[in-house]
Amino acid sequence: MYRIAVIPGDGIGPEVVAEGIKVLEACGEVHGIEFEWLRYPFGAEHYLSTGETLDEDSLEELSRCDAIYMGAVGDPRVEPGVLERGILLRLRFYFDQYVNLRPVRLYPGIDTPLKGKSHEHINFYVVRENTEDFYVGAGARVRSGSSREEVEVVRELYRLKFGIDIEKEGAEEVAFQLGVISKEGAERVIRYAFELAVREGMSRVSSVDKANVLTHMYSLWREVFERVAAEHEGIETEHVYVDAITMYFLTRPEHFQVVVTPNMFGDILTDLGAQIQGGIGLAPSGNINPEGVSMFEPVHGSAPDIAGRGLANPVAQILAGALMLRELGEAEAAELVERAVAEALRSGVRTPDLGGRASTSEVGDAVAQKLRELAEH
Ligand code: NAI
Ligand code: MG
Repeated sequence: MYRIAVIPGDGIGPEVVAEGIKVLEACGEVHGIEFEWLRYPFGAEHYLSTGETLDEDSLEELSRCDAIYMGAVGDPRVEPGVLERGILLRLRFYFDQYVNLRPVRLYPGIDTPLKGKSHEHINFYVVRENTEDFYVGAGARVRSGSSREEVEVVRELYRLKFGIDIEKEGAEEVAFQLGVISKEGAERVIRYAFELAVREGMSRVSSVDKANVLTHMYSLWREVFERVAAEHEGIETEHVYVDAITMYFLTRPEHFQVVVTPNMFGDILTDLGAQIQGGIGLAPSGNINPEGVSMFEPVHGSAPDIAGRGLANPVAQILAGALMLRELGEAEAAELVERAVAEALRSGVRTPDLGGRASTSEVGDAVAQKLRELAEH
């Protein structure tokens, strides 16, 4: 029995989450797994009527759940960032979900923009560090309007610490953002990547950095990677610069098995990953704290442009459910969901984004149906 907090959210969120739960329930039936779904209303409507994004009591309740199953938040009536920061980022930091796990897998028969590549070539994991790097929020803008005191404090700090004068001669305005990588922060995510490779029977872990230019941050990242790699003898390793790996994702995706990356490079690479696996309607994501409460969601947002019309592809949300099962230790159940998705897609039941004519719920029904058929054999 698993207690799962559900945050359907905004736009197409509730539509795709309904299909995700439908498939997980079907999977639970055949695998003898029970789910208790605890629904939370967080999102635009809740914010507009209460002025609240997330409250402390709910966070406390969420911390007693086995996982969080999330749709998407974001609504044109709310200023950009309020819900995304107030809900998504808040949860990510509160539960210290330091791994962002994104499988990049092209299902049979789905088109990729990469010429000559098919499902045999595109099947790997991106493990993105989810809490550090340029996302720690340290920085400032120094301009003529800033108080003298503010400027002096920041200037002195930078002069002493780094020997740089941030108030460049004659510059009207200077902005800077500080990236932070800690030994502990790098180590825990790199360790997760190696453990994932072992768990999934994969034989290569590729590390992404830009150690040739951003020497401080990424030399530390490299050292930690080397040390963790030395503990995993059977696994081949490599360092790849972020600019080069961007090319290789397109030219030889079949080379990659597990790719571990610092936060910002991972943000960009995973959008590329979503495209080569056939689009945003198919890409799931996990925000994982292996010792705590993890959160599973599709990569896409709330898609207000297609909300409420049965057009949304629920596959990314359904596959996020499979990721959740795997992280809960239910690997067989997870694989069953993935095989059912593959079968449903192969049979041609697809939403319009994949060139089909099926509705959101028809795709959910088809996946649940295939899952029951697969379980009988
Ligand atoms: P989006 O991902 O919601 O939509 C981008 C495009 O992809 C749209 O044309 C949409 O119709 C299409 N699309 C997305 N999901 C689809 C699906 N399942 N099936 C078929 N088509 C799909 O990104 P956008 O438009 O930039 O953002 C909309 C809102 O979502 C904003 O408020 C944004 O901040 C929020 N957002 C939330 C995220 C989250 O909750 N994790 C992530 C990304 C954006
Ligand atoms: Mg992104």
